[in-house]
Amino acid sequence: MGLSFPLIILIVRFVVSLMMFYLILSASSSGVQPLCHDDERFALLQFKESFIINQSASEKPSAYPKVSSWKLDQISDCCKWDGVECNKDTGHVIGLDLSSSCLKGFLNSNNSLFRLAHLQNLNLAASVFSGQIPTEILELSKLVSLDLSYNPLLKLQESGLTGIAQNLTNLKVLYLDHVDISSNIPNILANLSSLTNLSLSKCDLHGEFPVGIFHLPNLQLLYIGFNKYLTGCIPEFNRTSPLESLELAHTNFYGELPDSIGNLKSLVELSMRSCNFSGEIPSSLGNLTNLIDLDLQSNSLHGSIPQSISRLVNLETLRLDNNYFRVEFELFLRLRKLVELQLSGNNISFITNPSTNSTFAKFRILLLAQCDLGEFPEFLRNQDRLELLDLSGNKIHGQVPKWMGNVSIETLWGLALVGNLLTGFDQLLVVLPYLNLKHLMLDSNMLQGSVPIPPPSIAFYSVSNNRLAGEIPHLICNLSLITELDLSSNNLSGNLPQCLGNLSASLTKLDLHNNSFHGTIPRICGEANELMMIDFSENHLQGRVPRSLADCTKLEAVNLGNNQIHDIFPSWLGILPELRILILRSNELYGTIESSDSNFDFPKLHVIDVSNNDLSGKLPSEHFQNWKAMQIVDVESLKYMEEYQTLVTHSGNTMSFTNTYSMIIINKGTETLYEKVNGFLVVIDLSNNRFEGEIPDVVGNLKGLNLLNLSSNFLTGPIPFILANLTWLEALDLSQNKLSGAIPLQLTELTFLSYFNVSHNRLKGPIPSGKQFDTFDNSSFSENPELCGNPLSKKCGNLEDSVPPSSRHNLEFSFEFGWKVVAIGYGCGFLFGAVFGQIVITKKYGWFMKTFVVGQPNRRRVNWRGRRN
Ligand SMILES: *[C@@H]1O[C@H](CO)[C@@H](O)[C@H](O)[C@H]1NC(C)=O
Ligand SMILES: *[C@@H]1O[C@H](CO)[C@@H](O)[C@H](O)[C@H]1NC(C)=O
Ligand SMILES: *[C@@H]1O[C@H](CO)[C@@H](O)[C@H](O)[C@H]1NC(C)=O
Ligand SMILES: *[C@@H]1O[C@H](CO)[C@@H](O)[C@H](O)[C@H]1NC(C)=O
Ligand SMILES: *[C@@H]1O[C@H](CO)[C@@H](O)[C@H](O)[C@H]1NC(C)=O
Ligand SMILES: *[C@@H]1O[C@H](CO)[C@@H](O)[C@H](O)[C@H]1NC(C)=O
Ligand SMILES: *[C@@H]1O[C@H](CO)[C@@H](O)[C@H](O)[C@H]1NC(C)=O
Ligand SMILES: *[C@@H]1O[C@H](CO)[C@@H](O)[C@H](O)[C@H]1NC(C)=O
Ligand SMILES: *[C@@H]1O[C@H](CO)[C@@H](O)[C@H](O)[C@H]1NC(C)=O
Ligand SMILES: *[C@@H]1O[C@H](CO)[C@@H](O)[C@H](O)[C@H]1NC(C)=O
Ligand SMILES: *[C@@H]1O[C@H](CO)[C@@H](O)[C@H](O)[C@H]1NC(C)=O
Repeated sequence: MGLSFPLIILIVRFVVSLMMFYLILSASSSGVQPLCHDDERFALLQFKESFIINQSASEKPSAYPKVSSWKLDQISDCCKWDGVECNKDTGHVIGLDLSSSCLKGFLNSNNSLFRLAHLQNLNLAASVFSGQIPTEILELSKLVSLDLSYNPLLKLQESGLTGIAQNLTNLKVLYLDHVDISSNIPNILANLSSLTNLSLSKCDLHGEFPVGIFHLPNLQLLYIGFNKYLTGCIPEFNRTSPLESLELAHTNFYGELPDSIGNLKSLVELSMRSCNFSGEIPSSLGNLTNLIDLDLQSNSLHGSIPQSISRLVNLETLRLDNNYFRVEFELFLRLRKLVELQLSGNNISFITNPSTNSTFAKFRILLLAQCDLGEFPEFLRNQDRLELLDLSGNKIHGQVPKWMGNVSIETLWGLALVGNLLTGFDQLLVVLPYLNLKHLMLDSNMLQGSVPIPPPSIAFYSVSNNRLAGEIPHLICNLSLITELDLSSNNLSGNLPQCLGNLSASLTKLDLHNNSFHGTIPRICGEANELMMIDFSENHLQGRVPRSLADCTKLEAVNLGNNQIHDIFPSWLGILPELRILILRSNELYGTIESSDSNFDFPKLHVIDVSNNDLSGKLPSEHFQNWKAMQIVDVESLKYMEEYQTLVTHSGNTMSFTNTYSMIIINKGTETLYEKVNGFLVVIDLSNNRFEGEIPDVVGNLKGLNLLNLSSNFLTGPIPFILANLTWLEALDLSQNKLSGAIPLQLTELTFLSYFNVSHNRLKGPIPSGKQFDTFDNSSFSENPELCGNPLSKKCGNLEDSVPPSSRHNLEFSFEFGWKVVAIGYGCGFLFGAVFGQIVITKKYGWFMKTFVVGQPNRRRVNWRGRRN
């Protein structure tokens, strides 16, 4: 059944290495095997000593340090050591397989490894070797197989591939995936006429791929995917080609697929996903009857799928999504082995209604999103093995038909019906019938009535952006395995059920924003809790910020904005070690912000928005001092919050499940969705309160700040020139206060500043000019009676008119940032087949897609994004 792509890769590799092994074994005659040579034993031990063993160096679960069994004593026969292979006649070490052996360290040119002159088979894959691959490796001239793949810190200098081609002429197998090569592929590599397997995925290769390599007479496996800048066309092939596996995914290969591709009669897998191919599929493709996996996803191919494709009877996986095909669906139904079919984003027609034929293909994975279906296709009635079904964005209207409640009830684990026009389920079901459903996405439909209840197996459930009404049914609390629940943007009302707190043992995300809930917020976290994000914003919730939040020790984001929370500022939330985003805007917070205790110092806070409340007193200097995460500019943390990944294994396929946070930020009235909130975004919004006193100098410590809004308070005193330290500041709003003095000249050094507003204050003197300041208009400065100079019409006196102009700053880097965090959302997605880092990702359901896809006809590529780009 349906081997996934990476599995095939592994198997192909396994078979190859098995063959090598066999060759080596059979080459030896019977009789007593000589002991290994002293010099080689010594070299091996030296090799062992030159690296450290680090369990985390190899990711594979089966990884273990093979060298730890290598013994120092004199009589130990190194031929019997784990990973070592000797020639049975000569006793020379001819094979060294230390793949996934948890080794870490530099591979120096004087490494004893290079003294093993008889080596034929060297495998150092999947560890953390680093440094340039020394040219000494070229002295191992007997190498038949060389595998250094998955050592991302290893580099091969530009001449490296040339050296290999010139010196290691016996090579049959060369694997350098994930090694940093960063160069063109030299033509001379096509001289390695013995090559059977060549794998160079994700090596940062660029330039034109040498066409001669395609024609290597023995080449069976060629992987050059995930080299974004590698380009080329598919050449003409003749019938002598032994190619079995060809992967070009995520490269810049382009042009049409030639008819002669039909000559690759040995081809088993062909992946050209996410390239730049155009034209039609040649009907000769139907000659490739050995094909098991065909992946043409995300290109610019068009036209009809040729009828000949129905001859590909061995096909198990077919991915044609995100092209411009016209698809007669019937073609695929006859491919009886086909278990995974992805056609999303094409135009599908059903010529006949094939619902009655039980001999048709039974799919496990069927992705038909955005195919203009208009209704649930009838053939689904016969599908009793579906695991994942995506019918999103198909303008399907009305009710989900009764018979859908019979489809694959035992096997279905993921169902996406996002972005249709569905109004409900045509049955009086209390609970949906799918026994093993884990992921259910019903967002952006027109669902009415009360919240549909998924079965108890559910892990992820989102039904945002519908018209659901009434209270949250208590049955929701029976979902003891649920990790993410999104009921946002509906018309739900009533109190939040007390039992919600019981779910926090499993829930990581709870999104109820934009409904009409009222009453107080129930106790959230109990003993065990996993909650990372809650969003209750835009409701009518009252009472205090629930003290139980302090028990939610994994919380990263809290949004209670736009409610009627009546409380003092919850300094005690500072105890949460992971809290990054705190939004309490537009509530009824009152009183002064108390100076904080050192135990409550918000160690990771990046975004705080308490605007539009009734807070008073001085600005919270002690807090500013404690907010350490805002004080560093940590480029590394860019990755932060970007993706949470959980690997889930389901029926032999490894799926990874990814989440991204997103925020909506208003920029001058335009909402902008920031899909990934990274550690880089640092926001303080204390605007529209009743803060008084001066702006403390400690604000200048918050070096990571991107957005600072103190507008509409009663702040007095000068604008501290130390704000010029905030080099990443993109927006500074100090308008509507009682600030006095001059605008510090130093602020012109803020090269990313794209928004600046000091209007409605008591500032005086000349407005600085130059750089960003030349881009602000007069409304940024208005209503300061004593301010003068450009862009105001009031001219300064001679003495005042002394601010030096400086060169205009180049705005290149200043991506336009808006303001006002109004909502935090999150997304989630399925990704397929990331087995041991092998790179086969098909698609992702993003939050963006979930909410904005409706009515957007041209959505290709924007919404479906692979993981690696
Ligand atoms: C590579 O092969 C080409 C043509 O087969 C030949 O002309 C050239 O000399 C070879 N290069 C080396 C370095 O062997
Ligand atoms: C097929 O291609 C190989 C390699 O390019 C070449 O050596 C051979 O002569 C070609 N055969 C025919 C029949 O064209
Ligand atoms: C795609 O290929 C066409 C030629 O077929 C080329 O003009 C275009 O620039 C390529 N697009 C990209 C993004 O490389
Ligand atoms: C290959 O496909 C082409 C076009 O479909 C066809 O004309 C040709 O006969 C096929 N060759 C073989 C050997 O099947
Ligand atoms: C069902 O499909 C098979 C294979 O395509 C075909 O041979 C058979 O005639 C079909 N049966 C019916 C009842 O349509
Ligand atoms: C569901 O399946 C059962 C058994 O196969 C059948 O009796 C029933 O009629 C089906 N219901 C619908 C609505 O198709
Ligand atoms: C919900 O859970 C309660 C207690 O665990 C149980 O009694 C009840 O039957 C469950 N309801 C459903 C519909 O599963
Ligand atoms: C939301 O529900 C209220 C009653 O709870 C109703 O008056 C209102 O019309 C509903 N709004 C929408 C958009 O359905
Ligand atoms: C929630 O948990 C508490 C304590 O564990 C328990 O008493 C209560 O019955 C639970 N509520 C629900 C609705 O399961
Ligand atoms: C600056 O703030 C004032 C008052 O808050 C507002 O009227 C004006 O439009 C703002 N200027 C800009 C450029 O946004
Ligand atoms: C700063 O906050 C005030 C009050 O909340 C708001 O009106 C203003 O738009 C904000 N500044 C910007 C640039 O959005």
